[in-house]
Amino acid sequence: MAEYNYGDAYLRYPLGAGPYMFDDGSTIQVHDIFNPLPAFMKSADLIFADPPWNLGNINTFYMKADKTERVDSFERFYKCLFGRIWEISPQVCYVEVGKEHLADFIMEMRKLYKYTTFYNSTYYHGKDKLCYVIRGSNKAKKPALDGMDEEDIIEWICSNEDYNIIGDLCMGRGLIGLNAYRNKKRFVGTELNHKRLSVLIESIEREKKIKNHKMVTN
Ligand SMILES: C[S@@+](CC[C@H](N)C(=O)[O-])C[C@H]1O[C@@H](n2cnc3c(N)ncnc32)[C@H](O)[C@@H]1O
Repeated sequence: MAEYNYGDAYLRYPLGAGPYMFDDGSTIQVHDIFNPLPAFMKSADLIFADPPWNLGNINTFYMKADKTERVDSFERFYKCLFGRIWEISPQVCYVEVGKEHLADFIMEMRKLYKYTTFYNSTYYHGKDKLCYVIRGSNKAKKPALDGMDEEDIIEWICSNEDYNIIGDLCMGRGLIGLNAYRNKKRFVGTELNHKRLSVLIESIEREKKIKNHKMVTN
């Protein structure tokens, strides 16, 4: 369907089945988190994940990714997600979620980290588009992020958290990758839909071209 082609970036930057590596070693892969975690994901010492928020939402993403299979239980999905986070064991982890499963995600985060907190947030900068960002860590620290839009939280995390490599298990069009790149930081990530993930490569290539052009003309 044309409306789920995300500007056709996948035609200009096609992704195969294996990992795709950027110049700085940042690595991404088209991947379903129900399958075993790619080894490169374990290099992340910070995670931000914005997974589907409920069963209807996840199956819409499967449909958009042209998958014929469907997920039958959201609990199975989020337990798998937190299982992958446990495998990676980042020092700090952020997960975004809607109200419906906020309590479930907080409980999962509490199993992994000594300190868990959550922030009221919004998406698409819409006052009525409410969501939550949960933070887990073994050190007592609570950055003041309450009330910020998730995009601004992502920007803040990528430029202010102390990390070497940020990971995202459900990258989508790659806000995490793009913001890490802008901060000269490495990132790793997986995403179900190759068409969505190609958008990240195109965004980074576009920013690189602008930077190179400025260097030539200055
Ligand atoms: C809310 S979006 C993430 C948006 C992202 N923050 C961005 O910058 O575009 C959730 C993403 O999870 C992906 N997803 C859904 N099920 C998945 C699965 N089983 N494994 C990996 N990714 C999945 C969807 O395709 C979708 O791109």
